[in-house]
Amino acid sequence: MIIAIDGPAAAGKGTLAKRLAEHFELAYLDTGLIYRAVGKKMVDEGFNLESIEKAESIAKALSPVDLEIEGLRTDEVAQMASKVSVIPGVRSALLEFQRSFAERPPAGKRGAVLDGRDIGTIVCPNANLKLFVTARTTIRAERRFKELQKRGLEAIYARVLEDIKERDARDSSRSASPLEPASDAYQLDTSALDSNQVFAEALEIVEAVGIS
Ligand code: DC
Repeated sequence: MIIAIDGPAAAGKGTLAKRLAEHFELAYLDTGLIYRAVGKKMVDEGFNLESIEKAESIAKALSPVDLEIEGLRTDEVAQMASKVSVIPGVRSALLEFQRSFAERPPAGKRGAVLDGRDIGTIVCPNANLKLFVTARTTIRAERRFKELQKRGLEAIYARVLEDIKERDARDSSRSASPLEPASDAYQLDTSALDSNQVFAEALEIVEAVGIS
């Protein structure tokens, strides 16, 4: 069983993906972490993020332990990830890693939940369920701002909002696997919902689709 969850930054897809994975006893892969690891490695190794060949070779050599690199979850690294993710060769190098996780999930799990930008469209076009999770831009910025504050990281709301707009624009307009809903995805607007309500709505969709 494969559940694909896509959507823009801070729409609530990660929280939902984790809860669905727990509920249905599936493996979970946050595919954003993979792009974050590539972006951070580029910067740590002193390369320019537009350096295509280097980004491709780092992507090709990426291993699961790289997803444990410290500091991957900052907004700065998110921008690095968004920048390397426009490179087609980086995307194709990371495709196999994501597909094999979905098709042969770890720990003998019977399936997987993957969240990202192109899971329903490119990575797992045959997923049993596709959700496209969105929320208004200002709401997403507020959520991300509060999350950063909670983690004790310095944050300025206006900056967080700008970052999200910039990333949305880049992720949606790139030519390789842009952020867009698959034609058979269920859209879930989380603007007015808390995480419990989002989970409840997703379960209703699962029930209606009859995949569990
Ligand atoms: O989900 P996230 O915010 O951690 O993702 C960081 C960036 O990585 C995002 O702005 C674009 C890129 N990304 C992608 O291009 N495709 C994915 N499946 C996941 C993330």
